Amino acid sequence: MSIDNLRAFLQALEKAGDLVRVKRGVSVNKEITEVADRCMKAPGGGPALLFEQPLLTGGGASRYPVAINLFGSERRMAMALGVETLDEIGERISTLLNLKVPDTLLGKLAMLPQLAEMAKFPPKVSGGRPACQETVIKGAEVNLAELPIPICWPEDGGPYITLPGVITRDPVSGVRNVGMYRIQVIGRNEVAMHWQRHKVGAAHWREMATRGETMPVAIALGGDPASIYAASAPLPPTIDEFLFAGFLRREPVRLAKAVTSDLEVPAEAEIVLEGHIDPRDALVLEGPFGDHTGFYSLADYYPKVHITAITMRGDPVWPHTIVGRPPMEDFYLGHATERIFLPLLKLTLPEIVDMHMPAEGIFHNLVFVSIDKQYPGQAYKVMNGLWGQGLMSLAKVIVVLDKDVNVRDPKEAWWVALNHIDPERDVRFSMGPIDVLDHSSRGFTFGSKMGIDATRKWKEEGFTRDWPNKIVMDAATKARVDAMWKDLGIEL
Ligand SMILES: Cc1cc2nc3c(=O)[nH]c(=O)nc-3n(C[C@H](O)[C@H](O)[C@H](O)COP(=O)(O)O)c2cc1C
Repeated sequence: MSIDNLRAFLQALEKAGDLVRVKRGVSVNKEITEVADRCMKAPGGGPALLFEQPLLTGGGASRYPVAINLFGSERRMAMALGVETLDEIGERISTLLNLKVPDTLLGKLAMLPQLAEMAKFPPKVSGGRPACQETVIKGAEVNLAELPIPICWPEDGGPYITLPGVITRDPVSGVRNVGMYRIQVIGRNEVAMHWQRHKVGAAHWREMATRGETMPVAIALGGDPASIYAASAPLPPTIDEFLFAGFLRREPVRLAKAVTSDLEVPAEAEIVLEGHIDPRDALVLEGPFGDHTGFYSLADYYPKVHITAITMRGDPVWPHTIVGRPPMEDFYLGHATERIFLPLLKLTLPEIVDMHMPAEGIFHNLVFVSIDKQYPGQAYKVMNGLWGQGLMSLAKVIVVLDKDVNVRDPKEAWWVALNHIDPERDVRFSMGPIDVLDHSSRGFTFGSKMGIDATRKWKEEGFTRDWPNKIVMDAATKARVDAMWKDLGIEL
């Protein structure tokens, strides 16, 4: 059975012994961050937390609890998506896609909605009053200060909504997008929307702004955990994240009509903020924000969303996360994407054996990839191929290794890579788009990339010396020592 909403997910986590209820008052003003950060830095990601009495910045206790770190371990991430291991989902997708479909990754992804299993679970719009609209606050009554929206870090520009599903619609194709973008509260009914220029929500807004049309936006907090995850997944613009979430859940996501726009919102959400962007409005200063790089993102200009309604359950829970110096909860959301999308990458780059983006590399800074090398120069083919695929285009450093290297273990990957390279020969620089959050590139979102060929070098690649073997003890000696181990009196 898939998990239908945030409260069911909280119950499942509690039953699994993975949730701590914090009963005493803790301020939304940085204190929740400090508590959650200590948990997220614990081995394995620490427990999920439910702050039952968040204290509001303006004074007094919030009526609504704050939940955090719900996705912050491999086990919880798998629970959220209803699987034992995340690799199961990737395998499910690759079996589906082992059909005659286009060669590019985007082409294959774009085929997903047409595939029978995917099409089996389209989102369903139900009538009647949905759970997310048990309470409806409209117009002048809207006051975001009544919600427990935390201030994360000391230099942050204000309170931030950090775990939303931002719902917009492509004005040309009509396809819905749901994206996880941080949102700064800048007034009692105004927020700044930090969708970066490479993201789908931003593309919808550019098109709407060019047309001079008012853009409806809905911000969903909570809902089923697969939908929350799907908002963070790098799906192509042609795929509705709620359709993808339905595929993950093997059950449709239930939607309802928004009360002040023609968008549809998750019926099971805890809270929905409905609003619009007025094309006549000037952009507003958003940030600074303590970001997942571990540094502050500098303030910059982003569109303002007017909030026209807050709809909620009778007793909503506010879902939250923090980002900052890794590892944090977002590592596990990103890790799910790494595992789920790996088989898709393999369809276009079949020599890829495994791939890993370690926490310290915050996804776009470092990608280790192992390949089954069959011909000279193949490492370069793979790095160039990766730089040509969707958000992989933002990868700053790609290290390509042979298939016998466990790239899921960064220590092993660096150990082998540093042994295998002649830097001047094996490192190449390229140019391309750079992640918005990169503070070091020569231009905003534009700069250089580094590809490292850390595979064994072949004669045909100009390497004429012998390549040494890795040191590994022979099996017979190991077995003899295993047998005598108890008698040695050594405790390790
Ligand atoms: C916790 C968290 C916060 C994020 N914040 C942002 C953000 O502020 N802006 C942004 O553009 N992407 C952000 N992302 C990444 C996007 O969610 C991700 O790139 C996703 O694929 C975007 O969806 P889209 O492809 O539909 O645009 C965040 C991801 C996570 C997990």
